[in-house]
Amino acid sequence: MRDYGRVTSPRSNPNSELDHVEVSAPDVSGVTDVSEATDAPADRDAERRERARLYPRVTSFRSRRGSLTQAQQQNWEELWPRIGRDVSETEQVDPTAWFGRSAPLILEIGCGTGTSTAAMAAVEPDTDVIAVDVYRPGIAQLLGAIKRAGLDNIRVIRGDAVIVLKNMLAPASLTGVRVFFPDPWPKARHHKRRLLQPETLIQIAHVLRDGGVLHIATDHADYAESISAVIDGQSVLTATDQPVPFSIARPVTKFEGRAAREGRPVTEFVLTRVPR
Ligand SMILES: C[S@@+](CC[C@H](N)C(=O)[O-])C[C@H]1O[C@@H](n2cnc3c(N)ncnc32)[C@H](O)[C@@H]1O
Repeated sequence: MRDYGRVTSPRSNPNSELDHVEVSAPDVSGVTDVSEATDAPADRDAERRERARLYPRVTSFRSRRGSLTQAQQQNWEELWPRIGRDVSETEQVDPTAWFGRSAPLILEIGCGTGTSTAAMAAVEPDTDVIAVDVYRPGIAQLLGAIKRAGLDNIRVIRGDAVIVLKNMLAPASLTGVRVFFPDPWPKARHHKRRLLQPETLIQIAHVLRDGGVLHIATDHADYAESISAVIDGQSVLTATDQPVPFSIARPVTKFEGRAAREGRPVTEFVLTRVPR
């Protein structure tokens, strides 16, 4: 494997306010393939229609069971109209209008419960973050963190990040893209479902501005090798050890803490967009 990333376990990042803080991020990676739970048949039909609208293709994610608590539902109703939206095949995001300002923009793909999202946004209030995931209970946890911390630099899209990349972002509009612990799909017959395929990297390069940064972390050795191979096969994103325009310090989440305890080192890739 070419040395695009740093394999460090435990990580050491002397400049980071986030380093070595183990924070709680419920692991959502191993949950069964089922529709989100709703009780009544009519609800289930509505949910199925909603899912077909939001996730129309065979994808890199699993649908996961989980309904919202009453408090999460209240947060959702309060915050979603302003800071959230569903994925769209046709509607492009206007970040200046959505955030109410113009600032360096970062897309986080697969934010899960948003532990890293909230922690990183809190220490970089001058950047704006769009977090994307399909997992509604995870997004609900992120909304709770946003509310508790009073963060105003996070917006959320619910749906398939591949559609977001293709349809919702202007070319060269992003300063950064983060992909932390993408689902590894360990079985060989499922590798085609992995998010980080050649086409996805090209889409990411398309929406990154020149010099913008793609930051990937994975604790899955085989996926790391496959990502290296995908990087080798293209020329628009290149490894860098130079300073980048935003912090690449991640909090050590519960998820990552467990990987460290189980002896799975984390591989990180920091790539810059080659000038057009
Ligand atoms: C293993 S979890 C990691 C979550 C989080 N980044 C972390 O480090 O804790 C992967 C997440 O990516 C999401 N995901 C996978 N494929 C996706 C896609 N195509 N679009 C949006 N989210 C996706 C899953 O729903 C899941 O929440």
